[in-house]
Amino acid sequence: MSAFRLPEPSADARQHSARLEEFIKQAIRHERGAISFARFMELALYAPGLGYYSAGALKFGEAGDFITSPELGSVFAECVVEATSPVLREVSAPMFLELGGGSGAFAEAFLAHADRLGVLPQCYAILEPSADLRQRQQARLRAALPPAVFARCRWLDGPPSEEWSGVLFANEVLDALPTTRFVIHEGEVFEEFVSLDAEGNFLRVDQPADALVRGAVRNVERRLGAPLPEGYRSELLPQLPYWIQAVGGLLKHGAMLFVDYGYPRREFYLPERNDGTLVCHYRHRAHGDPFFLPGLQDITAFVDFTAVVEAGVHAGFDFAGYCSQSSFLIANGLPARIAEAEAIVDERERHQRLNEIRKLTLPGEMGERFQAMGFSRDVDLSAAFAFGDLSRRL
Ligand SMILES: C[S@@+](CC[C@H](N)C(=O)[O-])C[C@H]1O[C@@H](n2cnc3c(N)ncnc32)[C@H](O)[C@@H]1O
Repeated sequence: MSAFRLPEPSADARQHSARLEEFIKQAIRHERGAISFARFMELALYAPGLGYYSAGALKFGEAGDFITSPELGSVFAECVVEATSPVLREVSAPMFLELGGGSGAFAEAFLAHADRLGVLPQCYAILEPSADLRQRQQARLRAALPPAVFARCRWLDGPPSEEWSGVLFANEVLDALPTTRFVIHEGEVFEEFVSLDAEGNFLRVDQPADALVRGAVRNVERRLGAPLPEGYRSELLPQLPYWIQAVGGLLKHGAMLFVDYGYPRREFYLPERNDGTLVCHYRHRAHGDPFFLPGLQDITAFVDFTAVVEAGVHAGFDFAGYCSQSSFLIANGLPARIAEAEAIVDERERHQRLNEIRKLTLPGEMGERFQAMGFSRDVDLSAAFAFGDLSRRL
């Protein structure tokens, strides 16, 4: 979809975007004319006070730019409670660490259901880089939860710095990590940078890749068993192993669970996917122009789940399972949620709940595009992945 057909922002929003655009342009001038695409994405999403996630745009839900599974209702979070409750019961003084808490919808539904099942974690921690989202999460949870449950909530400024036990959970966070874009020119690896043209507009340019990016691309080719073709352009996250080690390395007894949209490596780097997987979201329209109104749109890339399993195992975890979101939900209490939904007397409410379940599970909606991957250390998480195993595709 071309950018000019997207809905017009308000004058205020336009001004905000212009400020962020100028901020990024200054960074480009400061860096002698070019910044990596990953740096561009980082600034567009997380520049303090200006980036898409750092500033006050609505983002989530019907009136925002996209809808995530927890935004649809409580079913997704309730199934995550069911999946992780054996771990929460088994380990002592468990912490549930949610990365990227968004609007707080997941935490609210998770804690309400965990309370009902008697598996409240001792501490519910949220690691949220956006100060604006953190404030919104705090306000929402303070208003929605009983004081004794809210008292278990903490907001962390960085990954835990001491050993801990429990569950690390991230829904749609991996796709929001600033991604490196690369291209193959005459057999050599180039990295995509963002520069400015003569009129001062953003311009994508390719520069010879540094050792980290070159090594990461060569590693992908080695694992695929063949070099990527001439002109092939895509994404990868060279920092992923370090990131997973940073957020989960001190989890000594427990599990990690990632849910996101993505593919196993062989499908991620299919020959026909030769311009990568970058997707921008603006008012429920998906398009491919990362330079469109910086700060007013989300920029994401699909997840290479084979890279995630490698990073998790490298960080010392056992791989626990990989399946579609629909299989994951079915294995973790969805049949009970369906029965509850069907028993709702109010017709509107019943319709809404069944619609939520359809959106979460239908293959053409979020059921297959999203996948769940789990890791464990000294606990058994295999029951959470008892259905629809896809790990042979990794
Ligand atoms: C697409 S939103 C998903 C929000 C929420 N998990 C949901 O499903 O509705 C991405 C979230 O990840 C957060 N995020 C981005 N980078 C992160 C990081 N390095 N660590 C933790 N959270 C991060 C963003 O600020 C935002 O809250």
